[in-house]
Amino acid sequence: MSRESLSKSLSRLRVRAPETQVPGRTRVLFVCLGNICRSPTAEGVFRQLVKEAGLADAIEVDSAGTGDYHIGEKPDPRACWAASRRGYDLSSLRARQVTAKDFQDFDYVLAMDEQNLRALQRIAPPDGAHKLKMLTDFCSSGECGIPDPYIGGPEGFDRVLDIVEEGAQGLLRHIRSEIGR
Ligand code: 4NP
Repeated sequence: MSRESLSKSLSRLRVRAPETQVPGRTRVLFVCLGNICRSPTAEGVFRQLVKEAGLADAIEVDSAGTGDYHIGEKPDPRACWAASRRGYDLSSLRARQVTAKDFQDFDYVLAMDEQNLRALQRIAPPDGAHKLKMLTDFCSSGECGIPDPYIGGPEGFDRVLDIVEEGAQGLLRHIRSEIGR
């Protein structure tokens, strides 16, 4: 076999490590029920904060849902609209379902409410359970969970953003103190 065809065969075989496996990075996964309202909002808000802090090389962000109802769908238009009014772009996000493997791939698995937390506790492997928290654990105002805005008016999506922005700021402060940047 020539050097050229050997190199072609090897490049076909090469397995590309997923982005979430880059060593030394802090990996954050936000989880709600459908992955079309609250957790994509949290992903968009936190991604923007991380970028503004100059930490995009150090912190990876993703989101997922405990349910399978909306896999592959874009975020809810009401979530996109509310987010866009505050300068966040959710348009490239697509829903996926959380899996037990996410507890290997991420350092923080952050539930949006207590129902999501309980669903995640059921799939978390024993050595991954310490990664599981609520985003509101990082809020200083004592919020406990982010209300589901799916059935309701547009004001529910602004309330989601208010809580998410507070939690995302607290989370970023926490990670910065952990990584010393
Ligand atoms: P999310 O909101 O969990 O914040 O994405 C919901 C989206 C869809 C449904 C429930 C909540 N649903 O029942 O389809």
